[in-house]
Amino acid sequence: MKLYVALLVTLLGVHISGTPVELQRMIDDTHREMLTGNFMVPHANEDKDLDTMGLIKKYGYPAEEHTITTADGYILTVHRIPHGRVETPPPEGGRPVVWLQHGLMCSSSDWIMNTVEKALPYRLAEAGYDVWMGNARGNTYSKGHVTLSNKEEQFWQFSWHEMGMYDVPAFIDYALDVTGQKDLYYFGHSMGTTMFFTGMSLRPEYNSKIRLMNAFAPVAFTEHMISPIKLIAPFSASIEWLLNFFKAWEFLPSNEIMDFLGATICHEESLIQGLCSNVVFILCGFNSEQLNTTQLPVILTHTPAGSSVRSLVHYAQGVNSGEFRMYNHGKAGNLLHYGQEEPPNYDVSKITAPVAFYWSENDWLGVKADVYRLAELMPNLVRKYRVPHDKFNHQDFLWAIDSPSLLYETVEDFMKRF
Ligand SMILES: *[C@@H]1O[C@H](CO)[C@@H](O)[C@H](O)[C@H]1NC(C)=O
Repeated sequence: MKLYVALLVTLLGVHISGTPVELQRMIDDTHREMLTGNFMVPHANEDKDLDTMGLIKKYGYPAEEHTITTADGYILTVHRIPHGRVETPPPEGGRPVVWLQHGLMCSSSDWIMNTVEKALPYRLAEAGYDVWMGNARGNTYSKGHVTLSNKEEQFWQFSWHEMGMYDVPAFIDYALDVTGQKDLYYFGHSMGTTMFFTGMSLRPEYNSKIRLMNAFAPVAFTEHMISPIKLIAPFSASIEWLLNFFKAWEFLPSNEIMDFLGATICHEESLIQGLCSNVVFILCGFNSEQLNTTQLPVILTHTPAGSSVRSLVHYAQGVNSGEFRMYNHGKAGNLLHYGQEEPPNYDVSKITAPVAFYWSENDWLGVKADVYRLAELMPNLVRKYRVPHDKFNHQDFLWAIDSPSLLYETVEDFMKRF
């Protein structure tokens, strides 16, 4: 077992010595920021032990938990804030529904990791929306299945392809059924956008149920990704093989690969241990200007919330192929799954729902070149907004100190047009 890890680390090490200049520069900047960042992570924040329901209730909002079973048997837990702190009578026709879909390694709780005045779900609930937050298959809240156990390999044989194909339609059907609304506003962050793009292209009949899609840090093409995910891309096939060998289908942050990637980002002498071993900061980068360190203990205990190895590998495959396409099972597997040797591309021309893009300059995953390429192909792109802050990064869409003035206020204004 150690031998394989050593082999892999050697392969990765060789690759890192030849990393693209831009990637190296960003990693160096992060090193510097982590070393010179003049702060310590505080240990006390009582919110760190509360789950999504506990947090919502603590801040005086109505909280509901619902369980949804997908067509392929996954049991998903979703959370709802049906109205603001003080219940006002709903407008004629009922409250408009908002669905918030988290990204890779995240959960419903990541939307409420900012302070109560700033977190998007609370803002939307106060603005009169009926707010729902999904949990994709495989995360902390969604590890059930009608017949499979999450200890079995078969449970973990999914990526964001299946989340788009099954989870997104199940979420939409359920929320519209409970509320009696005919459509909803969908918000996606990162993988939450990927799920939407795959879902709407595979199940185009759902486009008419979307009033507006707000895509935060949109991710479909990953060719220009700067994240360390890029480092594993050339070895994505061997990594999946390796993790299968270790029976590590669930993506856990404590495996050797994460330790290794952590070591490339953080110096050993770094004081900020929590950050350096947390997969979310390793994969998404770090921006001390917009990160509220008092909230950090809460973030670190809730995130990462888990996913399948295959979700990560599917992104890494996109770095290699340069395409937004279905999972690559290898030639023989592809023939079996798709009847052709190469995986088919997702047909983004089928995404006819109105889509607004919100992207930022310092995003390692939703990189401008990839975001713009997707934007060109979107049949109904209604907005392309750059967050006006040069250091705004992938996770700042959720947690930034200035997220209201940089992002949420303009998003909320724009939504009213639909
Ligand atoms: C950071 O979060 C704490 C609560 O954990 C809050 O009291 C404080 O105002 C926040 N700081 C900023 C700059 O938003």
